[in-house]
Amino acid sequence: MEAGDESASTPQEDKRLFTPGPLNTRLEVRQAMLRDLGSRDAAFISTVKDIRRGLLELAGVSDEVFTAVPMQGSGTFSVEAVLQTASPRDGAKVLILSNGAYGRRQAKVCQAAGIPYTLREFPEDRALDVSAAEELLASDSFTTVTAVHCETSSGVLNPVQKMGQAVRRLQPHAAFVVDSMSAFGAVPLDLEEAGVDYLVSSANKCIEGVPGFAFAICRLKHLETTKGNSRSLSLDLYEQWFNLESTGQFRFTPPTHTMLAFHRALRHLLSAGGVATQADRYRSNNVTVKRGLTELGFRQLVRDGDDCYIITSFLCPSDPLFSFSKLYRGLSERGLVIYPGKVTEADCFRVGNIGDLHQEDMVRLVEGVRDVLKEMGVTTPVRY
Ligand SMILES: Cc1ncc(COP(=O)(O)O)c(C=O)c1O
Repeated sequence: MEAGDESASTPQEDKRLFTPGPLNTRLEVRQAMLRDLGSRDAAFISTVKDIRRGLLELAGVSDEVFTAVPMQGSGTFSVEAVLQTASPRDGAKVLILSNGAYGRRQAKVCQAAGIPYTLREFPEDRALDVSAAEELLASDSFTTVTAVHCETSSGVLNPVQKMGQAVRRLQPHAAFVVDSMSAFGAVPLDLEEAGVDYLVSSANKCIEGVPGFAFAICRLKHLETTKGNSRSLSLDLYEQWFNLESTGQFRFTPPTHTMLAFHRALRHLLSAGGVATQADRYRSNNVTVKRGLTELGFRQLVRDGDDCYIITSFLCPSDPLFSFSKLYRGLSERGLVIYPGKVTEADCFRVGNIGDLHQEDMVRLVEGVRDVLKEMGVTTPVRY
């Protein structure tokens, strides 16, 4: 059995992933994949139907107003499908309200698809400024307005409800798109109150499935008007929805095993109490790691009140003996995986709380950081 041989890995050996994904999943979720179903099999078609129904239930919305559309691929594929489909072929103008890497990625998506857009960038270490956004919304006419719910690159939680209300008031005809990739399922959001037309998330975030597909929760009234908009054959949300509605099937090969795992994860979450339950566990995970690392002297990138319990960016100390790569390696040797920072202006590392992580994991992580700092010769509290 060779180290690094994935086939030899047992659940007991898996490292704890304090990352934004892929994440740790429950054994029962992985076991749900031990079946081979055909894409036209009645059992698979009813699984897909139940997933779509369950997603609306988790979102707390009616199937008369919204529909859930799964799409093969990672989260970016669904962001791309939404932007392609929600933006008309003629006269599109997308306003991207961004404070991080995932906002900027939307600009790249528009650029690649030839969709006209305005990228408005805000500071990465704080929540989007609603009044500055209001000024922009009042200054021009847009067909599509987008924001990221939890900017996973920093851990900032954006005020999407207020942004959505501003969009409804100032751009009543625009589609409001929310990238809630790392927040949906664990951060409450009232889609009606927030005037959301499209919310995007993926299988392997807060619902704790395995990677392989993402989905959009779409306002029917808008989606119904989007036939022919997509500049892409496969990333066409309208056609995907139309096919699912008329045949119960995906247009192209569906990720059958991933869907089976997700079905198990989603049903588990719904029966355990849904968003509120997930929020409680992640919040208490986050409290433990923040308290532990603050005691070691670490400071957060994001100011208090603008941060989220999904993932936290900690600033790297100035002590010359501190090295992120040594910290990463030392923790990894202890079976603990953290993530590098992803902001442009500061040297950080990130600790995620999502996935099948519990209090004992967070305590182990804090102890691991303390031990690795000692090995590096970094004194605590760490210095800046
Ligand atoms: C907010 C947000 N948007 C988009 C993405 C991109 O998702 P993917 O890497 O699955 O394509 C991520 C990934 O973590 C994310 O957190």
